[in-house]
Amino acid sequence: MNKIIYLDAAASAQKPSCVVDVEMDFLRKSYANSGRGICARATAVDDMVATARRRVAEFINADANQIVFTSGATDGLNRIVNILTRQPWYLQMSTFAVSDIDHHSARLPWQELMYDGHIREMLKCELDENFDINPDSVPKTDFLIITAMSNVLGRAQDVCAIIANARNKNPNVVTIVDASQYVVHEKIDVKKWDCDFLVFSGHKIGADTGVGILYIRDADRYFPDKFGGGMVAKVTDTSLNLYTSPDKWEAGTLPLTQIVGLMPAIDYLEKNRPNHDLIKHAYDELAKNPRVKILTTRDAAILSFVVDGMHPLDVGALLGANNICVRAGNMCASWIHARMGIPGSIRISIGSWNTMDDINKTIDVINKIVK
Ligand code: ALA
Repeated sequence: MNKIIYLDAAASAQKPSCVVDVEMDFLRKSYANSGRGICARATAVDDMVATARRRVAEFINADANQIVFTSGATDGLNRIVNILTRQPWYLQMSTFAVSDIDHHSARLPWQELMYDGHIREMLKCELDENFDINPDSVPKTDFLIITAMSNVLGRAQDVCAIIANARNKNPNVVTIVDASQYVVHEKIDVKKWDCDFLVFSGHKIGADTGVGILYIRDADRYFPDKFGGGMVAKVTDTSLNLYTSPDKWEAGTLPLTQIVGLMPAIDYLEKNRPNHDLIKHAYDELAKNPRVKILTTRDAAILSFVVDGMHPLDVGALLGANNICVRAGNMCASWIHARMGIPGSIRISIGSWNTMDDINKTIDVINKIVK
């Protein structure tokens, strides 16, 4: 069988051996629940969870008690809406702002609130000629959703300037950053960005599926959205004494194996970020094919394109038939495709496992498919 060329890191990353080994070891030799047990084996798992939390905090320049483990970025983005709508002051809020580079998971929970009549109006940040969010265009709003890097266009947004402008217009604005793609390519500094909430998934940074990170700046300001074991210090028929963050946010058993895999994944990613020269080379080569229209800029973290006269799904399927894994379609980012007047695109996204040879072989196959 021919070797697979996996160019779909933006959908989910391949896992480095250090992550697989740590998870296997944990399952084979150290498994127990966390936050409940008093035996040495259980408290050792408490330590592992605490160590993972500190490592994640350090990774994005947060404090450990601001880091909440979720099941993924989509879970985090939905939970933020559930958290905010439970706060007494929510009823005085009336607008949220988005941009057309959003992934469905960042915007749909808010659009749903609007359809239900709970929030009055959806406002838009404008995009410039590269489809970057224009920080000067950020409207005065109660809630602001920022996609730090589009999963279609792969360009880092100026999150700092966007948030600073939003706060100038409304000091009480609640800012939410979807960093799912950004986190793979660039260093995050939540203190510098000054965001209220931020999410990303474990599986895109080389950790496992089923774990995500939710950063909450003022983690003890909000009443929780989920209830159950491990988050209350005392409870009676009529009262509830919550633990402080992060415990108050983590009702129920955590995805322990996946959490244990976060630390080696982060250590590995920090030493092995994707090599963007591969994207530049793919850009230069693909640009020579007159039927290919590249949608991304040469300095982007990923490369998306369309082919004259062919549906993106057909191109993706033909690449797949040649053992080349890419993503094709609207990529859960309908709005940016609608803006470009296309039904979808084909995306090449890279991880540390990819080589120049992978790119050259892929370009050869594209040139055979698209003559
Ligand atoms: N959001 C992921 C992607 O862009 C799944 O493919």
